[in-house]
Amino acid sequence: MDQYIIKGGKSLAGEVSIGGAKNAALAILAAAVMSDEVVTIENIPDVRDINVLLEAIEDIGVKISRTDAHTVKVMGCRLNSVNVDSDSVRKIRGSYYLLGALLGKYKTAQVALPGGCNIGSRPIDQHIKGFEALGAQVKIQHGLIKAQAEKLKGNHIYLDLISVGATINIMLAATLAEGQTIIENSAKEPHVVDVANFLNSMGANIKGAGTDVIRIKGVEKLHGSTYSIIPDQIEAGTFMLAAAATKGDVLIKNVIPKHLEAITAKLVEMGAEVEEFDDAVRVVATKKLGHTQVKTLAYPGFPTDMQPQITTVLAISSGTSIVTESIFENRFKYVDELTKMGASIKVEGNTAIIDGVSELTGAIVSAPDLRAGAALVIAGLAADGITTVEQVEYIERGYENFEKKMLELGAMMAKIDSSNEKAIRKFKLKVG
Ligand code: EPZ
Repeated sequence: MDQYIIKGGKSLAGEVSIGGAKNAALAILAAAVMSDEVVTIENIPDVRDINVLLEAIEDIGVKISRTDAHTVKVMGCRLNSVNVDSDSVRKIRGSYYLLGALLGKYKTAQVALPGGCNIGSRPIDQHIKGFEALGAQVKIQHGLIKAQAEKLKGNHIYLDLISVGATINIMLAATLAEGQTIIENSAKEPHVVDVANFLNSMGANIKGAGTDVIRIKGVEKLHGSTYSIIPDQIEAGTFMLAAAATKGDVLIKNVIPKHLEAITAKLVEMGAEVEEFDDAVRVVATKKLGHTQVKTLAYPGFPTDMQPQITTVLAISSGTSIVTESIFENRFKYVDELTKMGASIKVEGNTAIIDGVSELTGAIVSAPDLRAGAALVIAGLAADGITTVEQVEYIERGYENFEKKMLELGAMMAKIDSSNEKAIRKFKLKVG
């Protein structure tokens, strides 16, 4: 099994370029099968979750051709099955977007219940409520979600809670329903807007994405399109916090600074300098950062996907900080790993109370999920000595060339198979 071995203590410096947004790409790839014409999608991140979804789409007969690592052409007309089920597809969350896409187009779909990171219970009742409101019958049987309708008819849907997945899934199905659908209390995340823009580029009629009321006028069919995915807000935020944790100076390029405002505001409160450019942000941290309070919220609030990374930086900032996780109830599992590195964090329910320590020290830790894994790498980069981060496959679900990008910023780290003792010894000798 691959692991990252990191020699900490080096300030990150230089430039890093951010890839396309994984969570937008998952939905956009699913949406692309709704057209019978060729759809070209650019700026797709080359990460594991995306590749699993692409395989699932190919398994149902859709022809996918990869022009380069970040561009795919999707030919939805070749589809020959609406049954999406395989071991790998059960492990990712984004596969559930095929339910909305196939239901919208073929009025029937069967998709394996989604997996994804184990960060708490992840019900799909709001997705089902939305599909039923559009006229579908939805059943869960033998690990599959089965949705079927004679026809889909627009409706007024009020989401009981803000859900990115339910907002997008209902938007997909409603795009090809008869009449108008109004989704109230919808999620406003940048990737919800990106999916709406993509659907509109194929001829959909969606207004209001990015606000809490989305209006969709159903259309008969979608045509081909060429579309480029927005930059990944969470990858960008992760590098911003890695720069802050290592007292670094990093220019993070190819971002939309507006999407990063919640993260920027917290870093500035903690004492870092953040300079915004048209499509880049520069984070400079020259001194020890200070404490703050963070509560994760739906966009434009502080993203839950950045919670482990900011908690890690607060663990080595001065004073006592409080981080409240209000989206997923089980997203503090990495705290035990940070404790092995000397962090002083007490978790009570959905709140972490963090007493900043003067430094972390290297240890062997294991990534419990994607974002927590990235946070442990940040901890290792800032820590004194050598840190081994196990289970890097979680990190590779959502970060492309993570260690390569860190190396270009001057980090001392390597990805080495845990059985390759010779390579591990060599790395340790090299970094001293
Ligand atoms: C998406 O998950 C992302 N995943 C997550 O990113 C992200 O953490 C999350 O949105 C919040 O921003 C993908 O896009 C593939 P939700 P999703 O529906 O859609 C509850 C990452 O690291 N809920 O917005 O599953 C739910 O339990 C991943 O990239 C219901 O109760 O999140 C949660 O408490 C991890 N019923 C809250 O809503 C439902 O039907 C928000 O979930 C749906 C959700």
